[in-house]
Amino acid sequence: MNYTDVCKRIEKEPAHWLVTGAAGFIGSNLVQALLNLNQKVTGLDNFSTGFQHNLDEIKDSVTAKQWENFLFINGDIRDIETCASACKNQDYVLHQAALGSVPRSISDPLNTHANNITGHLNMLVAARDASVKRFVYAASSSTYGDHPDLPKVEDKIGHPLSPYAVTKYVNELYADVFNRVYGLENIGLRYFNVFGKRQNPHGAYAAVIPLWFSSLIKGEPVYINGDGETSRDFCYIDNCIQANILAALVQDKSAVNQVYNVAFGERTTLNQLFAMIRERVALKYPDAIKIEPQYRDFRKGDVRHSLAEISKASTLLGYKPLFSVSKGLDEAARWYIEHL
Ligand SMILES: NC(=O)c1ccc[n+]([C@@H]2O[C@H](COP(=O)([O-])OP(=O)(O)OC[C@H]3O[C@@H](n4cnc5c(N)ncnc54)[C@H](O)[C@@H]3O)[C@@H](O)[C@H]2O)c1
Repeated sequence: MNYTDVCKRIEKEPAHWLVTGAAGFIGSNLVQALLNLNQKVTGLDNFSTGFQHNLDEIKDSVTAKQWENFLFINGDIRDIETCASACKNQDYVLHQAALGSVPRSISDPLNTHANNITGHLNMLVAARDASVKRFVYAASSSTYGDHPDLPKVEDKIGHPLSPYAVTKYVNELYADVFNRVYGLENIGLRYFNVFGKRQNPHGAYAAVIPLWFSSLIKGEPVYINGDGETSRDFCYIDNCIQANILAALVQDKSAVNQVYNVAFGERTTLNQLFAMIRERVALKYPDAIKIEPQYRDFRKGDVRHSLAEISKASTLLGYKPLFSVSKGLDEAARWYIEHL
């Protein structure tokens, strides 16, 4: 079944969805998409890296009736009771809550472990006990670690290069065991550098796309770690939403209890990315075109190149990313220019 048909199907028969990390970047976009499809949605977040203004923006973008379908729980996935009450009566769980960022995990591995591994295990236990239909969770391309092959294929991974990567790999191991031992249906989505509206541009751990939009809009210096030839498979948020909804609803049993790459399937270097962002910002702020990037040392724990093979997701889930990097940056530029 293709994505459009899946969306039509759930609109006719609304389900109950729990989105963890609902006040964050990916979680808030998932909540918004589900409310737009007239689903009943519960959001769970402890605001450690998420924001009330992300939830306010959803409220402003949906109808009053759709907003009535949303329940927010201010709580922490490190607390099993919170997870248990959030999972009660849910059909699908989209588990996004975690502490992102490789550098954050290098400076504070204990905190990353507690949120990303203990929190994930709590969510698996709670989802199992509530007999949810499916548990879809945010895995990560960092799991490929030092494996040299490009493009990255799901069953060939290397050694993790950071505590964050360890936590995301452990998430996959636990999910697999929860299927084998308890029969919990689950799917892990290995996101590759997701970007788009509401990704936080502020703070020491900001991702490159929001950070550069912010710096260029404000006329501040832009730094590139390394020589700029480091590459990534940048994935626009709408592609990621599509993958989550397909993963929750796919009926083919051979597609379940698997992990999938979620990306666009194209490689962009940091130098190319900088030029694309600067070009878009300059349409509104012409002086931005004069800003040249400043190069500094490579960052610890970063992989050099990343590119996904997305044929597993397209074959088994029906995933067809509709937003190229260029089209996604057009959308993101509109949002950052309006909000910064
Ligand atoms: N953005 C990407 O490119 C990317 C890539 C790979 C994987 N991921 C994964 O996707 C998920 C979402 O990432 P994001 O980019 O939206 O990050 P984000 O920081 O914007 O969102 C994460 C949300 O989880 C919440 N959270 C963290 N710990 C929590 C806890 N203990 N209890 C309750 N809520 C908690 C935060 O407050 C935040 O709102 C994460 O699991 C991340 O590891 C993201």
